[in-house]
Amino acid sequence: MKITGPKGTHDILYKNIYKWQFIESQLKNLVELYDYQEMRTPIFENTDLFLRGVGDTTDIVDKEMYTFKDKGDRSITLRPEGTAGVVRSFIEHSCYNEVLPGKFYYYGPMFRYSRPQAGRYRQFHQFGVEALGSADPFLDGEVLELMMNMFKALGLKQLKLEINSVGCPVCRPIHKEKLKDYLKSHYDQLCPTCQSRYEKNPLRIFDCKSLTCQEIIQKGPYVTDNLCDDCENHFIKVKEYLDMVELEYEVNKKMVRGLDYYTKTAFEVSAGREGSQSSIGGGGRYDGLVEELGGPELSGIGFAIGLERIVMTMDEQMLFEGKFESVNKVFIASVSSNEIPETVRLVSLLRKNDIHALRDTMNRKLKAQFKYANKIGADYVITIGDEEVSSKIYTLKNMKTSKEESYVESDLINILKGENNEFKK
Ligand code: HAM
Repeated sequence: MKITGPKGTHDILYKNIYKWQFIESQLKNLVELYDYQEMRTPIFENTDLFLRGVGDTTDIVDKEMYTFKDKGDRSITLRPEGTAGVVRSFIEHSCYNEVLPGKFYYYGPMFRYSRPQAGRYRQFHQFGVEALGSADPFLDGEVLELMMNMFKALGLKQLKLEINSVGCPVCRPIHKEKLKDYLKSHYDQLCPTCQSRYEKNPLRIFDCKSLTCQEIIQKGPYVTDNLCDDCENHFIKVKEYLDMVELEYEVNKKMVRGLDYYTKTAFEVSAGREGSQSSIGGGGRYDGLVEELGGPELSGIGFAIGLERIVMTMDEQMLFEGKFESVNKVFIASVSSNEIPETVRLVSLLRKNDIHALRDTMNRKLKAQFKYANKIGADYVITIGDEEVSSKIYTLKNMKTSKEESYVESDLINILKGENNEFKK
């Protein structure tokens, strides 16, 4: 029986890898410009990290974690997101004694056991950014600016940035009580999931797909209406920054994010698509997380971008056109098996000189070797017959122009290394 990849995973094939490499290099360049440095943390962590970090009332922890016991009977979880791991590492290595704010970025696979659909995978990739140690609302603004500039650097169109303030441990409990007071008289109309949310986390009712629940929650109080002065002023300052740098945004009072650690600023971005998998990135401030995970009382803010959704949107918006950078390839053909040693020697020599060279390894006849050279997009072909073996003079054929010229070995290398670009024209 054929073995296929596990449900909800996907392969990034060699012919599409340039898309991922393009995105990753653009994003890396940009975040480094903003002085973020890369952190690489394990893709599995002790389960407690996510219980405490992401929060046990969230769908991620409640339903979506890949958790298992290892052979030492430890509970291990494949990371569903990157923030908790970076914060754990920041604390574990006392990075807070170094430069503050600590500014980190990461990218790699994340794992969530949810129902797969277009744009939603069980193994997916995020590119994320975390800034730890500053409570300055202008940092929120700068982080938002960076995120939007990342999307712009990729050429994405129809970008929509939505922001909200989800309050803090001072004002959120007050809001929660007001919300519960309001919901009490509607409790029987709520769906069973929202009835359980009512006790644990009534704010999450905003995420419910049921029309009845939506109708009820929309008429209730919004967290933004119950912010304390500190959160209110913080939110005003964030918006002030966005206006200063002329970044467009919408305040979406309904937005609650799917992770428990957020305080104050929360945000999401979409690019043209509507619906539940439309978010290409999201994030927010998490001022209590460092302390919650055993570190000092330090603020944090960050975001993560979903790379599968970026690739999908860039495909739809046709943004990969012209992004494939091919290198000059030289194919060395042999007229018969007698010349194979010379092709081996020459290919090896060219590679030592940083030239992308290759030869046939399928025992093809000469004609089939030329066909192969075409298929792999060789820019040049050198054919080795007994004459070339004895004279050590090689004829280089430019496959685009069909122009041919003969060189001794050293000239051949110089030409191919681009010291004389004349031939390439
Ligand atoms: P998140 O909103 O859960 O936030 O995920 C961020 C992005 O990852 C989403 O906007 C989406 O593009 C992508 N994503 C999430 N789940 C899936 C999935 N199953 N399949 C494909 N793409 C997905 C976080 O993960 C936070 N850690 C972000 C953050 C960093 N907040 C502060 N710092």
